[in-house]
Amino acid sequence: MSHRILIAYASRTGVTAEYAQIIAQAPAFAADTVQVLKMQNVRDLNGIDAVILGSSVRFGQWLPEAQKFVESHQAALAQRPTALFTVHDLNRGDNEASRQQREAYLLKVRPLLQARCEGFFVGRTDASQLNFFERMLTRIIPQDAGEPASPQALQAWAETARAALLS
Ligand SMILES: Cc1cc2nc3c(=O)[nH]c(=O)nc-3n(C[C@H](O)[C@H](O)[C@H](O)COP(=O)(O)O)c2cc1C
Repeated sequence: MSHRILIAYASRTGVTAEYAQIIAQAPAFAADTVQVLKMQNVRDLNGIDAVILGSSVRFGQWLPEAQKFVESHQAALAQRPTALFTVHDLNRGDNEASRQQREAYLLKVRPLLQARCEGFFVGRTDASQLNFFERMLTRIIPQDAGEPASPQALQAWAETARAALLS
């Protein structure tokens, strides 16, 4: 059965926007109508069966516009199955400490909704898109070595998310 799915994202340098598009184009959603929108461009959730929200992380939490989106659409989100994905550079390890630290990126979001599925994806830092202050910060903050999330990993998550959202 075909469903109407909204993927709403918050992104500063385009990485989360790119991941949202890859998720939308996953084979798992081939039979669905998937709309990808920047969170600021979403007016309401009328006509939407399920929602995927994605944000990158700055200073240990989702972007302020993503937090604001969850707050202002809290009632509509409560009526629809929702999945979350988070894009980040740090705390990407498989160990428990790293897992706990990346889970903490959602501390302010989680009390506001009941997500059926959460995904965490390593992004990348594009220094050419940062202002002076941000560039300085990324030099001070240790960047773990490693690769950004692969399209295959994002598409595999899309399959898991669809099953969780629409089962
Ligand atoms: C100023 C600044 C602060 C950041 N803070 C964090 C952070 O606290 N934790 C983390 O894992 N990544 C952090 N990042 C990395 C971003 O989440 C990462 O580069 C992401 O891919 C950016 O995605 P976007 O282009 O969709 O915003 C930070 C990046 C910048 C520039």
